[in-house]
Amino acid sequence: MEKNTIKILNQLKEKEDAVILAHYYVDSEIQEIADYIGDSFFLAQLASKLENKTIVMAGVYFMGESIKILNPDKNVLLVDKTADCPMAHMITKEKIEAMRNKYDDLAVVCYINSTANIKALSDVCVTSSNALKIVENLEEKNIFFIPDGNLARYVAKSVQSKNVIANDGYCPVHNNIDVNELKELKSKFPKAKVLAHPECHSDILSLADFIGSTKGIIKMAKEDDCQEFIIATEKGISYMLEKECPNKNFHFIDSMICHDMKLNSVSKIIDALKSKATEVIVDKSIVDKAKIPLNRMLEMGQ
Ligand code: 13P
Ligand code: SF4
Repeated sequence: MEKNTIKILNQLKEKEDAVILAHYYVDSEIQEIADYIGDSFFLAQLASKLENKTIVMAGVYFMGESIKILNPDKNVLLVDKTADCPMAHMITKEKIEAMRNKYDDLAVVCYINSTANIKALSDVCVTSSNALKIVENLEEKNIFFIPDGNLARYVAKSVQSKNVIANDGYCPVHNNIDVNELKELKSKFPKAKVLAHPECHSDILSLADFIGSTKGIIKMAKEDDCQEFIIATEKGISYMLEKECPNKNFHFIDSMICHDMKLNSVSKIIDALKSKATEVIVDKSIVDKAKIPLNRMLEMGQ
């Protein structure tokens, strides 16, 4: 990174009392300059503890929206407002209402990769790092898990005491991996352990040695004795894996690139701090409803 760019960024951060948060999937140039890097749960938890007036979220739209819902008095800026997670939109109000009409004893469990409007219709939010724990501890027997079908099926398999009904949403990056590509990597690197994100299709998860959130994958790679890993999640995670485990070898699946995460850049962070044109605005009536399932997640997901 050029010294002048860092200087401009630091001046703007000071002027706006700003802090930069980044998800593990954004480009390494951002992870290098971010104040905090983490998975969805860490970032949602962290934002409420920060004293800064302005929070810049380098990630996708729902991440900025969640931070705004939990911190309505702060200025939350996205880096690129068009960076959106397609899965966040793969559920409708009508589907939720139909499920609520069908079951009396139902909890609508909403993956954080969802729009604020959908969170507002849900009972509790989860991320991939706390979904199992939260679903296990809910009173309701029937769980409508939205929007991610793959994560829902993974939860259903792991928490057999519940009737988990899976929605049919999916992450295009994790769902569309060719299982033969993973099999080829496994035969090329037979000593490597497979670490996979639960958004992957069950054909991929059945070949994994460990299934977990981005933070969970990094922790496992660091703590496991194995020296070589095949990583089944978005390739941006390579920055932190290589930083945390400089002597270990990682193999990635070439197609696993989230183009929305890649819309973030350092020059756009500078533009956002200058213009504030990417500020996240959430209607007060939605904030009031959506903060309930998000706060419940923060309490239950610890
Ligand atoms: P994590 O919560 O594991 O960081 O995942 C976020 C995400 O978007 C995965 O595709
Ligand atoms: Fe959404 Fe998938 Fe990108 Fe994550 S990797 S932000 S789930 S499209």
